[in-house]
Amino acid sequence: MQLKYMMCTVVLSVVTAIPLVAAAQDWRNTASTDKKLDKLVAVMPATGNIMIEMGERYKNLYWAAKLGQWEFAGYQAEEMEELIDKLKITRPGLTKTANDFLRNSYPRLPQAIKTRDWDKFSAMFENLRSECMACHSKNEHGFITLPIPKRASSPVLELE
Ligand code: HEC
Repeated sequence: MQLKYMMCTVVLSVVTAIPLVAAAQDWRNTASTDKKLDKLVAVMPATGNIMIEMGERYKNLYWAAKLGQWEFAGYQAEEMEELIDKLKITRPGLTKTANDFLRNSYPRLPQAIKTRDWDKFSAMFENLRSECMACHSKNEHGFITLPIPKRASSPVLELE
């Protein structure tokens, strides 16, 4: 009887201790505000993370326009602008070249989409991709080149 009682307490205390231990290891609940901030800064999307999304939108933009889905193309353009804005926050070292892009190259994109004219769009797209690559060169990543997209990933476009 005595032993059974003891085993019961052992099992009970192990079971009740588990959530306590898990909570104690979760920095989101226990770390100081400074530590929490350090960790949040460390997990902010890096240039590579943001640019992978940029690459997808670049492909979706091209094919949306090619298929005459101009509204969807306009939406991709807006999201691309927001990605550059986000990049300036997470990687301040890129602010100068990001601003060059936003001021000198990006504005032609929504303008061309508004015309709903494929010839105007494709001329703009040619310029856009060289400006994207110019920023790569200015930031020691000139080897990241961007061909005209052969396909796009968005299910909205029903290409794949
Ligand atoms: C402000 C400068 C800048 C602009 C503007 C820019 N990029 Fe980038 N991009 C970079 C840098 C820097 C990298 C290298 C990533 C890294 O440092 O991890 C990169 C990487 C990439 C990659 C490779 C991602 C990977 O890891 O596979 C793609 C794709 C890409 N960019 C697409 C684009 C497209 C499309 C545009 C234009 C619409 C664009 N980028 C505009 C700076 C820029």
